[in-house]
Amino acid sequence: MDLKQYESRTSRPIQAKVPDFQRHERLKHVLFSQQFNTGLLNHLARVATNIRALAKSRDGHIWLSQLLPHKRAMLYFTQASTRTFLSFTAACQILGITCNEIRDPKVSSEYKGENPLDSVRMFSSYFDLIIMRSVIANFAECCAYLMNDLERSDQRSVPIISGGAGTDQHPTQALLDMYTILRTFEFTSPQDSSLRTRFAELQSRYPSLTKGPADKTYCFCGDIGRGRTVRSLSVLLSLYENVTMIFVAPDHDKLRLSGDLKQFLISRKVKVIETEDLREVIGEADCLYMTRIQHEHDKPEDKTFFDELDMSRYTLTPEMVGRMRDYTPIMHPFPRNEEIPFEIDKDPRAMYFRQARNGMWIRAALIAYLFDMDGRIMSKHAEMFSDYQSYNEGVLA
Ligand code: ASP
Ligand code: CP
Repeated sequence: MDLKQYESRTSRPIQAKVPDFQRHERLKHVLFSQQFNTGLLNHLARVATNIRALAKSRDGHIWLSQLLPHKRAMLYFTQASTRTFLSFTAACQILGITCNEIRDPKVSSEYKGENPLDSVRMFSSYFDLIIMRSVIANFAECCAYLMNDLERSDQRSVPIISGGAGTDQHPTQALLDMYTILRTFEFTSPQDSSLRTRFAELQSRYPSLTKGPADKTYCFCGDIGRGRTVRSLSVLLSLYENVTMIFVAPDHDKLRLSGDLKQFLISRKVKVIETEDLREVIGEADCLYMTRIQHEHDKPEDKTFFDELDMSRYTLTPEMVGRMRDYTPIMHPFPRNEEIPFEIDKDPRAMYFRQARNGMWIRAALIAYLFDMDGRIMSKHAEMFSDYQSYNEGVLA
Protein backbone atom coordinates (compact mmCIF):
# COMPACT_ATOMS: atom_id res chain seq x y z
CA MET A 1 0.00 0.00 0.00
CA ASP A 2 1.49 3.36 -0.94
CA LEU A 3 0.46 6.00 1.57
CA LYS A 4 3.44 8.25 0.73
CA GLN A 5 1.32 10.33 -1.62
CA TYR A 6 -0.53 11.63 1.49
CA GLU A 7 2.57 12.29 3.57
CA SER A 8 2.53 16.07 3.16
CA ARG A 9 -0.98 16.02 4.68
CA THR A 10 -0.59 13.30 7.32
CA SER A 11 2.59 14.86 8.72
CA ARG A 12 0.85 18.12 9.71
CA PRO A 13 -0.13 18.80 13.34
CA ILE A 14 -3.66 17.52 14.07
CA GLN A 15 -5.10 20.99 14.60
CA ALA A 16 -4.10 21.92 11.05
CA LYS A 17 -5.85 18.82 9.69
CA VAL A 18 -9.18 19.25 11.48
CA PRO A 19 -10.74 21.60 8.85
CA ASP A 20 -10.07 18.95 6.16
CA PHE A 21 -12.48 16.61 7.92
CA GLN A 22 -15.33 19.11 8.19
CA ARG A 23 -18.01 20.35 5.86
CA HIS A 24 -19.08 23.85 6.89
CA GLU A 25 -19.65 23.61 10.65
CA ARG A 26 -20.24 19.83 10.63
CA LEU A 27 -17.92 16.85 10.76
CA LYS A 28 -17.53 15.02 7.46
CA HIS A 29 -15.08 12.27 8.51
CA VAL A 30 -14.36 11.07 12.06
CA LEU A 31 -10.69 10.33 12.71
CA PHE A 32 -9.40 12.17 15.77
CA SER A 33 -10.74 13.19 19.18
CA GLN A 34 -9.40 16.66 18.47
CA GLN A 35 -12.34 17.13 16.07
CA PHE A 36 -14.80 17.39 18.98
CA ASN A 37 -15.63 20.25 21.33
CA THR A 38 -17.82 20.23 24.42
CA GLY A 39 -20.81 21.64 22.48
CA LEU A 40 -20.70 18.78 19.97
CA LEU A 41 -20.16 16.20 22.73
CA ASN A 42 -23.22 17.46 24.60
CA HIS A 43 -25.24 17.49 21.40
CA LEU A 44 -24.30 13.91 20.47
CA ALA A 45 -24.99 12.76 24.03
CA ARG A 46 -28.47 14.31 23.82
CA VAL A 47 -29.17 12.72 20.44
CA ALA A 48 -27.95 9.35 21.80
CA THR A 49 -30.24 9.63 24.83
CA ASN A 50 -33.16 10.57 22.56
CA ILE A 51 -32.48 7.56 20.30
CA ARG A 52 -32.29 5.34 23.39
CA ALA A 53 -35.68 6.61 24.58
CA LEU A 54 -37.31 6.34 21.16
CA ALA A 55 -35.97 2.82 20.58
CA LYS A 56 -37.74 1.59 23.73
CA SER A 57 -41.17 1.62 22.12
CA ARG A 58 -42.20 -0.31 19.03
CA ASP A 59 -43.42 2.88 17.32
CA GLY A 60 -40.23 4.77 18.12
CA HIS A 61 -38.13 1.85 16.97
CA ILE A 62 -39.96 1.64 13.65
CA TRP A 63 -39.70 5.40 13.18
CA LEU A 64 -35.92 5.28 13.74
CA SER A 65 -35.50 2.38 11.33
CA GLN A 66 -37.22 4.42 8.62
CA LEU A 67 -34.78 7.31 8.86
CA LEU A 68 -31.97 5.99 6.65
CA PRO A 69 -33.17 2.86 4.79
CA HIS A 70 -31.72 4.32 1.59
CA LYS A 71 -28.15 4.25 2.97
CA ARG A 72 -25.64 1.40 3.04
CA ALA A 73 -22.57 1.11 5.27
CA MET A 74 -19.35 -0.83 4.74
CA LEU A 75 -17.57 -2.13 7.82
CA TYR A 76 -13.97 -2.75 6.81
CA PHE A 77 -12.34 -4.16 9.94
CA THR A 78 -9.02 -5.81 9.13
CA GLN A 79 -7.96 -5.70 12.79
CA ALA A 80 -9.72 -7.80 15.45
CA SER A 81 -12.84 -6.31 17.07
CA THR A 82 -15.95 -7.42 18.94
CA ARG A 83 -17.59 -4.30 20.41
CA THR A 84 -16.75 -1.64 17.86
CA PHE A 85 -17.74 -3.84 14.96
CA LEU A 86 -20.95 -5.11 16.54
CA SER A 87 -22.09 -1.84 18.07
CA PHE A 88 -21.59 -0.03 14.76
CA THR A 89 -23.57 -2.80 13.05
CA ALA A 90 -26.33 -2.47 15.65
CA ALA A 91 -26.23 1.35 15.38
CA CYS A 92 -26.71 1.12 11.61
CA GLN A 93 -29.57 -1.36 12.09
CA ILE A 94 -31.30 1.00 14.54
CA LEU A 95 -31.30 3.70 11.84
CA GLY A 96 -32.38 1.31 9.07
CA ILE A 97 -28.97 1.34 7.34
CA THR A 98 -27.96 -1.89 5.58
CA CYS A 99 -24.46 -3.12 6.50
CA ASN A 100 -21.87 -5.18 4.75
CA GLU A 101 -18.43 -6.20 5.96
CA ILE A 102 -14.92 -7.28 5.17
CA ARG A 103 -12.99 -8.46 8.20
CA ASP A 104 -10.50 -10.81 6.64
CA PRO A 105 -8.71 -9.39 3.57
CA LYS A 106 -7.78 -12.96 2.61
CA VAL A 107 -11.34 -13.40 1.39
CA SER A 108 -11.31 -10.14 -0.58
CA SER A 109 -9.31 -9.36 -3.70
CA GLU A 110 -6.57 -7.94 -1.50
CA TYR A 111 -5.51 -11.58 -1.44
CA LYS A 112 -4.84 -11.19 -5.17
CA GLY A 113 -2.71 -8.13 -4.51
CA GLU A 114 -5.33 -5.39 -4.70
CA ASN A 115 -4.14 -2.20 -3.03
CA PRO A 116 -6.27 -1.44 0.10
CA LEU A 117 -6.70 2.13 -1.20
CA ASP A 118 -8.37 0.64 -4.28
CA SER A 119 -10.54 -1.51 -1.99
CA VAL A 120 -11.70 1.59 -0.14
CA ARG A 121 -12.43 3.48 -3.35
CA MET A 122 -14.47 0.48 -4.53
CA PHE A 123 -16.43 0.46 -1.26
CA SER A 124 -17.32 4.09 -1.89
CA SER A 125 -18.86 3.02 -5.21
CA TYR A 126 -21.30 0.69 -3.47
CA PHE A 127 -21.77 2.19 -0.01
CA ASP A 128 -22.60 5.56 1.55
CA LEU A 129 -20.42 5.28 4.65
CA ILE A 130 -17.17 3.45 5.41
CA ILE A 131 -16.38 2.48 9.00
CA MET A 132 -12.90 1.03 9.30
CA ARG A 133 -10.29 -0.32 11.67
CA SER A 134 -6.70 -0.96 10.69
CA VAL A 135 -3.37 -1.74 12.34
CA ILE A 136 -1.92 1.06 10.22
CA ALA A 137 -2.31 4.21 12.28
CA ASN A 138 -2.90 6.68 9.45
CA PHE A 139 -4.72 4.47 6.96
CA ALA A 140 -8.22 5.79 7.77
CA GLU A 141 -6.84 9.34 7.60
CA CYS A 142 -5.38 8.65 4.13
CA CYS A 143 -8.74 7.21 3.05
CA ALA A 144 -10.38 10.46 4.16
CA TYR A 145 -7.95 12.42 1.94
CA LEU A 146 -8.73 10.02 -0.90
CA MET A 147 -12.44 10.79 -0.45
CA ASN A 148 -11.75 14.54 -0.26
CA ASP A 149 -9.75 14.39 -3.51
CA LEU A 150 -12.58 12.51 -5.21
CA GLU A 151 -15.09 15.07 -4.00
CA ARG A 152 -12.92 17.88 -5.34
CA SER A 153 -12.98 16.28 -8.78
CA ASP A 154 -16.78 15.84 -8.57
CA GLN A 155 -16.60 12.11 -8.06
CA ARG A 156 -18.38 9.95 -5.56
CA SER A 157 -17.09 10.42 -2.03
CA VAL A 158 -18.41 9.09 1.29
CA PRO A 159 -17.68 9.73 5.00
CA ILE A 160 -14.96 7.70 6.70
CA ILE A 161 -15.24 6.80 10.39
CA SER A 162 -12.22 5.37 12.18
CA GLY A 163 -13.08 2.45 14.45
CA GLY A 164 -9.51 2.30 15.79
CA ALA A 165 -6.26 3.36 14.13
CA GLY A 166 -3.13 1.39 15.09
CA THR A 167 -1.87 2.47 18.50
CA ASP A 168 -2.82 6.05 17.74
CA GLN A 169 -6.52 6.88 18.22
CA HIS A 170 -9.95 5.36 18.75
CA PRO A 171 -12.21 8.40 18.51
CA THR A 172 -15.58 6.66 18.75
CA GLN A 173 -14.45 4.74 21.84
CA ALA A 174 -13.66 8.14 23.33
CA LEU A 175 -17.18 9.27 22.41
CA LEU A 176 -18.79 6.36 24.21
CA ASP A 177 -16.46 6.82 27.18
CA MET A 178 -17.37 10.51 27.31
CA TYR A 179 -21.08 9.73 26.99
CA THR A 180 -20.73 7.30 29.92
CA ILE A 181 -18.88 9.92 31.98
CA LEU A 182 -21.45 12.64 31.17
CA ARG A 183 -24.28 10.35 32.28
CA THR A 184 -22.47 9.07 35.37
CA PHE A 185 -21.57 12.53 36.60
CA GLU A 186 -25.18 13.70 36.42
CA PHE A 187 -25.40 11.71 39.69
CA THR A 188 -29.09 11.02 39.25
CA SER A 189 -30.95 7.98 40.50
CA PRO A 190 -34.45 6.62 39.78
CA GLN A 191 -35.07 7.05 43.54
CA ASP A 192 -34.49 10.85 43.37
CA SER A 193 -37.39 12.92 44.71
CA SER A 194 -38.01 16.58 45.47
CA LEU A 195 -36.99 15.82 49.07
CA ARG A 196 -33.90 13.78 48.50
CA THR A 197 -31.51 13.26 45.60
CA ARG A 198 -28.50 11.02 45.15
CA PHE A 199 -26.38 14.07 44.36
CA ALA A 200 -27.32 15.84 47.62
CA GLU A 201 -26.55 12.65 49.50
CA LEU A 202 -23.14 12.31 47.85
CA GLN A 203 -22.39 15.98 48.45
CA SER A 204 -22.98 15.55 52.16
CA ARG A 205 -20.16 12.96 52.09
CA TYR A 206 -18.00 14.70 49.47
CA PRO A 207 -18.63 18.46 49.92
CA SER A 208 -16.49 19.55 46.95
CA LEU A 209 -18.26 17.23 44.50
CA THR A 210 -19.76 18.96 41.46
CA LYS A 211 -21.85 17.64 38.58
CA GLY A 212 -20.26 17.14 35.16
CA PRO A 213 -16.78 16.12 33.94
CA ALA A 214 -14.99 19.28 35.18
CA ASP A 215 -13.18 19.47 38.56
CA LYS A 216 -12.43 15.74 38.60
CA THR A 217 -9.48 13.38 38.92
CA TYR A 218 -9.33 10.71 36.20
CA CYS A 219 -7.09 7.75 36.84
CA PHE A 220 -5.92 5.73 33.82
CA CYS A 221 -4.23 2.42 34.57
CA GLY A 222 -2.39 -0.16 32.45
CA ASP A 223 -0.88 0.18 28.99
CA ILE A 224 -0.93 3.94 28.72
CA GLY A 225 1.64 4.25 25.92
CA ARG A 226 0.06 1.81 23.45
CA GLY A 227 -3.58 2.19 24.51
CA ARG A 228 -5.29 4.24 21.82
CA THR A 229 -8.43 4.55 23.94
CA VAL A 230 -6.51 6.36 26.69
CA ARG A 231 -5.04 8.70 24.14
CA SER A 232 -8.37 9.58 22.58
CA LEU A 233 -10.31 9.90 25.84
CA SER A 234 -7.69 12.03 27.60
CA VAL A 235 -7.86 14.48 24.68
CA LEU A 236 -11.64 14.85 25.16
CA LEU A 237 -11.38 15.16 28.94
CA SER A 238 -8.82 17.94 28.52
CA LEU A 239 -11.66 20.09 27.13
CA TYR A 240 -13.02 20.46 30.68
CA GLU A 241 -11.86 22.83 33.44
CA ASN A 242 -9.77 21.83 36.41
CA VAL A 243 -9.05 18.26 35.41
CA THR A 244 -6.33 16.09 36.97
CA MET A 245 -5.16 12.92 35.23
CA ILE A 246 -3.22 10.21 37.01
CA PHE A 247 -1.49 7.76 34.67
CA VAL A 248 -0.52 4.46 36.27
CA ALA A 249 1.78 2.43 34.01
CA PRO A 250 4.83 0.19 34.18
CA ASP A 251 8.13 2.00 33.91
CA HIS A 252 8.82 1.19 30.27
CA ASP A 253 9.33 3.52 27.31
CA LYS A 254 6.45 2.08 25.33
CA LEU A 255 3.99 1.64 28.20
CA ARG A 256 4.20 4.91 30.07
CA LEU A 257 2.54 8.18 28.98
CA SER A 258 4.16 9.38 25.77
CA GLY A 259 5.95 12.73 25.76
CA ASP A 260 3.76 14.24 23.01
CA LEU A 261 0.49 13.44 24.80
CA LYS A 262 1.87 14.68 28.11
CA GLN A 263 2.88 17.98 26.51
CA PHE A 264 -0.50 18.32 24.83
CA LEU A 265 -2.36 17.72 28.10
CA ILE A 266 -0.20 20.16 30.00
CA SER A 267 -0.76 22.77 27.27
CA ARG A 268 -4.50 22.26 27.90
CA LYS A 269 -3.92 23.02 31.63
CA VAL A 270 -4.44 19.42 32.76
CA LYS A 271 -2.61 18.51 35.97
CA VAL A 272 -0.68 15.36 34.99
CA ILE A 273 0.55 12.85 37.59
CA GLU A 274 2.46 9.67 36.74
CA THR A 275 2.93 6.68 39.01
CA GLU A 276 3.64 2.94 38.88
CA ASP A 277 1.24 1.53 41.45
CA LEU A 278 -2.54 1.76 41.36
CA ARG A 279 -2.78 0.91 45.07
CA GLU A 280 -1.23 4.25 45.99
CA VAL A 281 -3.76 6.44 44.15
CA ILE A 282 -6.98 4.42 44.09
CA GLY A 283 -8.68 6.57 46.74
CA GLU A 284 -8.08 9.81 44.81
CA ALA A 285 -9.92 8.87 41.62
CA ASP A 286 -13.30 10.32 40.70
CA CYS A 287 -13.22 8.02 37.68
CA LEU A 288 -11.08 4.93 37.15
CA TYR A 289 -10.23 3.82 33.60
CA MET A 290 -8.56 0.39 33.51
CA THR A 291 -6.88 -1.03 30.42
CA ARG A 292 -5.16 -4.30 29.53
CA ILE A 293 -1.49 -4.62 28.58
CA GLN A 294 -1.57 -4.75 24.77
CA HIS A 295 0.73 -7.73 24.27
CA GLU A 296 0.04 -7.92 20.54
CA HIS A 297 2.43 -4.97 20.17
CA ASP A 298 5.26 -6.57 22.21
CA LYS A 299 8.71 -6.86 20.67
CA PRO A 300 10.89 -9.97 21.34
CA GLU A 301 13.46 -7.78 23.14
CA ASP A 302 10.83 -6.82 25.75
CA LYS A 303 10.08 -10.43 26.76
CA THR A 304 12.19 -10.37 29.96
CA PHE A 305 10.59 -7.09 31.01
CA PHE A 306 7.08 -8.50 30.65
CA ASP A 307 8.02 -11.82 32.28
CA GLU A 308 9.23 -9.94 35.35
CA LEU A 309 6.45 -7.34 35.44
CA ASP A 310 4.56 -7.20 38.75
CA MET A 311 0.98 -7.05 37.43
CA SER A 312 -0.47 -6.67 40.95
CA ARG A 313 0.35 -2.97 40.62
CA TYR A 314 -2.04 -2.67 37.65
CA THR A 315 -4.76 -5.07 38.79
CA LEU A 316 -7.89 -4.14 40.70
CA THR A 317 -8.81 -6.18 43.79
CA PRO A 318 -11.98 -6.11 45.95
CA GLU A 319 -9.85 -4.58 48.73
CA MET A 320 -8.89 -1.69 46.43
CA VAL A 321 -12.47 -1.24 45.26
CA GLY A 322 -13.36 -0.95 48.96
CA ARG A 323 -11.05 2.07 49.19
CA MET A 324 -12.57 3.83 46.18
CA ARG A 325 -15.02 6.71 46.45
CA ASP A 326 -18.68 5.69 46.56
CA TYR A 327 -19.46 7.25 43.19
CA THR A 328 -16.27 6.45 41.21
CA PRO A 329 -17.17 4.55 38.03
CA ILE A 330 -14.87 1.68 37.06
CA MET A 331 -14.50 1.89 33.31
CA HIS A 332 -12.65 -0.31 30.81
CA PRO A 333 -12.82 -0.25 27.01
CA PHE A 334 -12.57 -4.08 26.95
CA PRO A 335 -11.48 -6.72 26.16
CA ARG A 336 -10.12 -7.28 29.66
CA ASN A 337 -7.44 -9.70 30.74
CA GLU A 338 -6.71 -10.17 34.44
CA GLU A 339 -6.75 -6.47 35.43
CA ILE A 340 -10.40 -6.57 36.57
CA PRO A 341 -11.35 -9.89 38.21
CA PHE A 342 -14.90 -11.13 37.53
CA GLU A 343 -15.89 -10.76 41.21
CA ILE A 344 -15.81 -6.96 40.77
CA ASP A 345 -18.54 -7.07 38.11
CA LYS A 346 -21.31 -7.06 40.70
CA ASP A 347 -20.13 -3.80 42.28
CA PRO A 348 -22.57 -1.01 41.30
CA ARG A 349 -19.59 1.11 40.24
CA ALA A 350 -18.53 -1.46 37.60
CA MET A 351 -19.56 0.44 34.51
CA TYR A 352 -17.91 -1.48 31.68
CA PHE A 353 -20.91 -3.38 30.35
CA ARG A 354 -23.13 -0.29 30.43
CA GLN A 355 -20.24 1.63 28.89
CA ALA A 356 -20.10 -0.82 25.96
CA ARG A 357 -23.88 -0.58 25.46
CA ASN A 358 -23.60 3.21 25.48
CA GLY A 359 -21.34 2.70 22.46
CA MET A 360 -24.27 1.51 20.41
CA TRP A 361 -26.37 4.60 21.21
CA ILE A 362 -23.63 7.18 20.74
CA ARG A 363 -22.52 5.54 17.47
CA ALA A 364 -26.12 5.65 16.25
CA ALA A 365 -26.16 9.35 17.23
CA LEU A 366 -22.90 9.99 15.38
CA ILE A 367 -24.12 8.30 12.19
CA ALA A 368 -27.45 10.13 12.39
CA TYR A 369 -25.51 13.39 12.78
CA LEU A 370 -23.25 12.62 9.78
CA PHE A 371 -26.39 12.13 7.66
CA ASP A 372 -28.07 15.25 9.10
CA MET A 373 -30.79 13.31 10.89
CA ASP A 374 -30.01 14.56 14.40
CA GLY A 375 -32.47 17.48 14.18
CA ARG A 376 -35.30 15.17 13.12
CA ILE A 377 -34.54 12.81 16.00
CA MET A 378 -34.65 15.66 18.54
CA SER A 379 -37.98 16.91 17.14
CA LYS A 380 -39.50 13.43 17.13
CA HIS A 381 -38.37 12.87 20.69
CA ALA A 382 -39.92 16.17 21.79
CA GLU A 383 -43.15 15.27 19.98
CA MET A 384 -43.35 11.72 21.35
CA PHE A 385 -42.58 12.66 24.92
CA SER A 386 -44.32 16.05 25.14
CA ASP A 387 -47.67 14.51 26.19
CA TYR A 388 -45.91 12.56 28.90
CA GLN A 389 -44.05 15.68 30.02
CA SER A 390 -47.14 17.88 30.11
CA TYR A 391 -49.00 15.17 32.05
CA ASN A 392 -46.19 15.10 34.60
CA GLU A 393 -46.03 18.89 34.75
CA GLY A 394 -49.80 18.94 35.31
CA VAL A 395 -49.61 16.38 38.11
CA LEU A 396 -46.70 18.07 39.80
CA ALA A 397 -48.04 21.63 39.45
N1 ASP B 1 -10.74 -2.57 22.24
C1 ASP B 1 -9.91 -1.43 22.48
C2 ASP B 1 -9.13 -1.07 21.24
O1 ASP B 1 -9.36 -1.66 20.22
C3 ASP B 1 -9.03 -1.62 23.68
C4 ASP B 1 -8.15 -2.83 23.62
O2 ASP B 1 -8.12 -3.57 22.62
O3 ASP B 1 -7.45 -3.02 24.62
O4 ASP B 1 -8.33 -0.19 21.30
N1 CP C 1 -13.46 -1.36 22.96
C1 CP C 1 -13.21 -1.91 21.75
O1 CP C 1 -12.80 -1.24 20.81
O2 CP C 1 -13.53 -3.21 21.67
P1 CP C 1 -13.23 -4.13 20.39
O3 CP C 1 -11.73 -4.09 20.18
O4 CP C 1 -13.74 -5.47 20.76
O5 CP C 1 -13.94 -3.51 19.22
